[in-house]
Amino acid sequence: MSTRKILVTSALPYANGPIHIGHLVEYIQTDIWVRFQKQRGNLCYYVCADDTHGTPIMLKADREGISPEELIAQVGKEHLADFGEFGVAFDNYHSTHSEENKVFSSLIYERLRDAGHINSRTITQGYDPVKKMFLADRFIKGDCPKCGALEQYGDGCEVCGSTYSPTELKNAVSAISGAKPVPKDSVHYFFNLENFKDMLRDWTNAGHLQPEVTNKLAEWLDGGLQQWDISRDAPYFGFEIPDAPGKYFYVWLDAPIGYMASFKNLCDKQGLDFDEFWRKDSNTELYHFIGKDIIYFHALFWPAMLTGAQFRTPSAIFAHGFLTVNGEKMSKSRGTFITARTYLDHLNPEYLRYYFAAKLSAGVDDIDLNFDDFSQRVNSDLVGKVVNIASRCSGFISKRFANRLSENCSEPALFADFINVNESIAELYETREFAKAMREIMALADKANQYIDEKKPWLLAKEEGKDQELHDVCSMGLNLFRVLTAYLKPVLPALVKEAEQFLAIESQNWVAGLQPLKGHAINEFKPLMTRVEADKIAAIIDASKENLEKTSDKSKPEPKAKQFEPIADTIQIDDFAKLDLRIAKIIKAESVPEADKLLKLTVDIGDECRTVFAGIKSAYKPEELEGRLTLVLANLAPRKMRFGNSEGMVLVAGPGGKDIFVLSPDEGAVAGMRVK
Ligand code: MSP
Ligand code: ZN
Repeated sequence: MSTRKILVTSALPYANGPIHIGHLVEYIQTDIWVRFQKQRGNLCYYVCADDTHGTPIMLKADREGISPEELIAQVGKEHLADFGEFGVAFDNYHSTHSEENKVFSSLIYERLRDAGHINSRTITQGYDPVKKMFLADRFIKGDCPKCGALEQYGDGCEVCGSTYSPTELKNAVSAISGAKPVPKDSVHYFFNLENFKDMLRDWTNAGHLQPEVTNKLAEWLDGGLQQWDISRDAPYFGFEIPDAPGKYFYVWLDAPIGYMASFKNLCDKQGLDFDEFWRKDSNTELYHFIGKDIIYFHALFWPAMLTGAQFRTPSAIFAHGFLTVNGEKMSKSRGTFITARTYLDHLNPEYLRYYFAAKLSAGVDDIDLNFDDFSQRVNSDLVGKVVNIASRCSGFISKRFANRLSENCSEPALFADFINVNESIAELYETREFAKAMREIMALADKANQYIDEKKPWLLAKEEGKDQELHDVCSMGLNLFRVLTAYLKPVLPALVKEAEQFLAIESQNWVAGLQPLKGHAINEFKPLMTRVEADKIAAIIDASKENLEKTSDKSKPEPKAKQFEPIADTIQIDDFAKLDLRIAKIIKAESVPEADKLLKLTVDIGDECRTVFAGIKSAYKPEELEGRLTLVLANLAPRKMRFGNSEGMVLVAGPGGKDIFVLSPDEGAVAGMRVK
């Protein structure tokens, strides 16, 4: 079989935030696959880059008072350090804000334009008159035109799920400055995806995609292809469009071109032939590993762009699912939004590599990180099974045989069993069925342990005249251990490197044709991996909650997410049952002159009137409140305040300032009604 030439990419992480364990599913998956290819003797290059362009990065730099260039340089360093410590070994890590990327983006754009695939037309968009910039849909917020929910974004309502155009939002404001957006015209450039309809129909059915992905694409293709808006107006952090001053490529245009740019950068450093990999009739292989959220860009836009610009298309796109933690979406308040750095501060990165490998398949299903399962698998498989073989055998080899293995291979058939499954394990790695591969390898580890259990070297060691047998058994155990480490090498590069040092062997290739070590001198054994400690996991979760406190800074609102407070720690239903919530009618409202936030309310809660102080002066004049209904926590212990006793609490909603809301006098609500 001749050596394959393979170029592999992972999606380019955005340069506006840290790498987290969700991202790592992808980078670890890709890295395992690439290491496997290299171990098999294939020529394989793994390239990636930071995705540095676009509005969020520009705004973030703005908020931090630095230039986007400074921001991306800083984040790029952090990303690379995180990846390095997780053993993700890129052959090249570049940036989309690079000369190579600028050149290729322009080239591809010009080729598409010259072939008639680019149109321009004027569109009207919301414009922030304060920030002097056009507002993408998700930077406009207001009230949902369908259900009236407040604080919804221009791309759709999170309450009722409807989608609409941002011009339909009621009371729309810019999420960046708070100003009222004004409609403004501007010329935009579009990529005419429709021209590639036939090409895409064929391509998406030609074995380049997973079956579930092909089905999804068929739906999209049947739904019709829209023209893709590839330009943005200044100010925008990106590349200016060559023949359109003041217009910039939309970040998603130059992002995938970043794959080519990073590879070009590698070619220039190592004297490789770029065209061999990217020309139309290339017979090299090209694979993109991505998450399921970005399939549209990779399986429609990207192959169409490449085809239109006379480059080759990918051999395959491998999409994976999303990571959940303990069965739920990663959450900042639960402490499960764990950054790569926080993890590294507490736990061995190879635990996570193994755990992901043990969960990953070739499909797009989400994978769950359950911390009990995590500890249990690492402890039982890696520490309890694999490393245990070496620790059980190495003591005798050291003490009784001066760290030299026996001249015999006493169980050639058992050794052959281990080698003979190599093609089936290779096939599982090749097809990204890593969980199945791990199961096969652990079944071999069980077999090796059974062998040792049967031979009982600890008894042989005590018997007269059993030296040779003891030597043979322990040597056999270490030879089996050696094969296991070769199989696990793509997943556990650091552990296996130490094992290779212990065994005094060269860095191992794939095991086909491997012979047992005989009469071979090894080194003193050192423990290769320790058990996962439960308190380390608790520490990670705590630290992730702390991160949240450190990063939440109210003076710097971030679009989306940031608008809402994190959900507080959960309470039990019994705790909730203790709350006596009542509808109350505001009988009287007076301002408290000494306090700039407080109003003194007299509220009717049905069978009695209470005095309650509420910090809602910024939103309401006292006279506006009289006669209105509100929600009162009636069994809050009375509190003595400077201005009198407060006998309950008025519950309101809203971010503060002018936006604090008591209830409207809804039909059917009566003072004193209990709320359940
Ligand atoms: N910048 C784009 C990709 C451009 S590729 C030309 C992007 N960046 S990202 O930082 O949001 O995500 C990078 C990769 O990580 C994506 O493939 C994404 O699907 C993946 N993941 C991000 N969060 C994830 C999980 N929680 N779980 C699994 N993968 C996740 O998208
Ligand atoms: Zn709605």
